[in-house]
Amino acid sequence: MKTVLTYGTFDLLHYGHINLLQRAKALGDYLIVACSTDEFNEIKNKHSFYNYENRKRVLEAIKYVDLVIPENNWEQKRDDIKKYNVDIFVMGDDWQNKFDELSDLCEVIYLPRTPDISTTIVKSYLNEKDITVNKS
Ligand code: CTP
Repeated sequence: MKTVLTYGTFDLLHYGHINLLQRAKALGDYLIVACSTDEFNEIKNKHSFYNYENRKRVLEAIKYVDLVIPENNWEQKRDDIKKYNVDIFVMGDDWQNKFDELSDLCEVIYLPRTPDISTTIVKSYLNEKDITVNKS
């Protein structure tokens, strides 16, 4: 049995996230997602629309995801990999080579990001548009 681990905020879940999670799960048998807490997002200067509890619940409802754990800080990755006997650490390639130092513990894989979609893009699109027309 191969365990796969990935990290992220996963706010306003979109198809780029789903593509990442689907491919991550396909690399093994059990997918753990470490979801950034609201406190950690503050440190990263990220302000999510959904709070941690709701982002976690959305992730738990995805069929590719087996377990959601909190991401509280930058330093926990080595401990998580050991604690959960992780075989493969996966991130989108916006993080290319950033976590190569973990390769003494497990395989490190960067998957290509889905083009033209991100939480930031969704937020800025909704800010620009008059979305009230869709509510009538
Ligand atoms: N991801 C991806 N393709 C996208 C967007 C995200 O593969 N189009 C991946 C990221 O590379 C990361 C994971 O999804 O491994 C979680 O990314 P996250 O930062 O939560 O999502 P973004 O949409 O990139 O959010 P933001 O715009 O706030 O940076």
